[in-house]
Amino acid sequence: MERTFLMVKPDAVQRGLIGQIISRFESKGFKMIAGKLMIISKELAEKHYQEHKGKPFYEDLIEFMTSGPVFAMVWEGDNVIRLSRLMMGSTDPEKAQPGTVRGDFATLVNRNVIHGSDSPENAEREIRLFFEERELIGG
Ligand code: RTP
Ligand code: MG
Repeated sequence: MERTFLMVKPDAVQRGLIGQIISRFESKGFKMIAGKLMIISKELAEKHYQEHKGKPFYEDLIEFMTSGPVFAMVWEGDNVIRLSRLMMGSTDPEKAQPGTVRGDFATLVNRNVIHGSDSPENAEREIRLFFEERELIGG
């Protein structure tokens, strides 16, 4: 059983898409073990996206991610890291297949609706960044 960190980004929270996005992962058979609506600090956004520091889109990305509430979640399931990335679709919604979250709900790379961890290492790191151990509901 694997865990990943997923986050509904500010554009999707503002558009009222939290429920539809959660529903897809529930229908797939994954289990949400933590979730909270939060406004993230610049500091937290920078830690979360540290691997992109210095890239041309970095400053805009940090500004966007702190522009309004996000819905941060931890999900559990078989191969949930790889499968949730598959369900999210390509980073650029122009390339994301219909049927994926980004393919169905987004048009622009800098407003692409959802974040998901891309490796077991990043999943662990991101879960620890956003949640205390006691916030994760086991069982
Ligand atoms: P995320 O981390 O948000 O789940 O997205 P990702 O893995 O699919 O893509 P990543 O390479 O980690 O990029 C992080 C976010 O930065 C924005 N981005 N913009 N303008 C661009 O070329 C560009 N490239 C990346 C996207 O919003 C992407 O989700
Ligand atoms: Mg990424």
